[in-house]
Amino acid sequence: MKQWLKDAVFYEIYPQSFYDTNGDGIGDLKGIIEKLDYIKELGCNALWINPCFDSPFKDAGYDVRDYKLIAPRYGTNADAKALFEAAHAKGIHVLLDLVPGHTSEEHAWFKESSKPEKNEYSDRYIWTDSCFSAGDGMPFIGGETDRNGTYILNFFKCQPALNYGYGKCREKWQMPTDAPGPRATVEAVKDVMRFWLDMGCDGFRVDMASSLVKNDTHHKKYTCAIWRDIAAMLDKEYPEAALLSEWNQPRQSLKNGFDMDFMLEWQGNGYSWLMRNYDGAIDSDPHNIGKAYFCADSGTGIDKFLDDWLPSYKATRKDGLYCLITCNHDTIRPSAGLTPDELKIAYAMLFTLPGAPFVYYGDEIGMRYLPLPTKEGGYFRTGSRTPMQWDNSANKGFSTAAADKLYLPVDDAADAPTVAAQQADPDSLWHTVQGVLNFRHSHRDLDSDAPFHVRFAPKAKGSYRPFAWERGKLICAVNPAREEAELPLKLEDGTRVLHVIGKAEVKGDELVLGAQSFAILG
Ligand code: NOJ
Ligand code: CA
Repeated sequence: MKQWLKDAVFYEIYPQSFYDTNGDGIGDLKGIIEKLDYIKELGCNALWINPCFDSPFKDAGYDVRDYKLIAPRYGTNADAKALFEAAHAKGIHVLLDLVPGHTSEEHAWFKESSKPEKNEYSDRYIWTDSCFSAGDGMPFIGGETDRNGTYILNFFKCQPALNYGYGKCREKWQMPTDAPGPRATVEAVKDVMRFWLDMGCDGFRVDMASSLVKNDTHHKKYTCAIWRDIAAMLDKEYPEAALLSEWNQPRQSLKNGFDMDFMLEWQGNGYSWLMRNYDGAIDSDPHNIGKAYFCADSGTGIDKFLDDWLPSYKATRKDGLYCLITCNHDTIRPSAGLTPDELKIAYAMLFTLPGAPFVYYGDEIGMRYLPLPTKEGGYFRTGSRTPMQWDNSANKGFSTAAADKLYLPVDDAADAPTVAAQQADPDSLWHTVQGVLNFRHSHRDLDSDAPFHVRFAPKAKGSYRPFAWERGKLICAVNPAREEAELPLKLEDGTRVLHVIGKAEVKGDELVLGAQSFAILG
């Protein structure tokens, strides 16, 4: 476990929409540098920055055209170096977003690979042996290149899959993972990682980390072997660098080289029951049906979350961190389903469970999900990618550009939350977030890898559904319902309420926890 991850609290930045310093309507790296003090003040000490590399932006930068160049719209490589230095000076670590599964169709490797003449990059992508061949179950494109073959896609049409080989080869164009082409792909990814680590970044969030090897086994045996190989390189050459996977299978990721994995919002999983159960509503038409644990009237028990999260946590707590996020650039913002009071206690719980928490920019003020037309391959996700709302000046302080020049429209509703307004209001969501994070930083019992035990988790009966858990010598408790609750925690004499949202009182050996309240005892 890397020491810095013990106390790490991440802030995820979608660079397009965070802060624009040159008035072109799009956020930039200099903007992140200017806001580092803000991030620190909130209580975050690490960043995950969504892809900021040269790209045609058909998938918001997850279609990389040049892995070693900052996209001009965000600045220069020198700005990236300046960002790493400025962040480090403030004790902030920076993860970049590594997209190893695919590139843009405009990447130079792909252009070379598309040529009929055999060259260094011919096997960098997965090609069939004829322009008429299907992809053996994978999506494929034919008829676009001079090379006589079809190529396999990893995601959108603009994202050809890099070739890491096949776990089981069924066609003669499929290569085993130890063939020279796939091995060269792994080495090329290591080279990209070294490039940014040498410049000063602290590691990577890894996009679609489980997607590398095709026809892999159920347990992703071959993909896992690649990550162990990459992690061994990091351990040797960059022992403090951290790897965070987009995988949501900690038994695979954390046991095979990743330091962190995070729980994705998959409909019906534990995380979705906690934060926003849409009960099958389609992504493009989100609505809150009030079933989430944190919805005051849902009646949903904590078991919906624990049944999913707890076994994975227990199986992997020695291997790494299974992390919880407020939201991310692929999900609908939690404010779409939870009121500000519900968000306060929801975040408090996310920030005091094990793992390193992740705050998606703007969630700390309850920024809203705006139904918007798609932008850069965002589709329904576009509504969670709008400009940060700093204050009540033009464009909510995000940019000095004309409103119609902005990357996406700002939430210009009169009651749209802003950082300035919430900083001025001691009861705001912002202050609640800051309060819990400060508490966390000052108590080693809340470190990301510190012990956790369930203390009290009755199945929901009517509205009685509070939950309490131990972190070292501390006890945390939450009551999402509208009625006060008595928790028979068998508290030791002298136990006190150390931090509270709402109302909490120790009575004898019980905790009396107010409606929609959260408390930390010790
Ligand atoms: C997951 C990323 O988070 C998402 O935004 C992207 O579209 C896909 N991977 C493809 O890279
Ligand atoms: Ca800009």
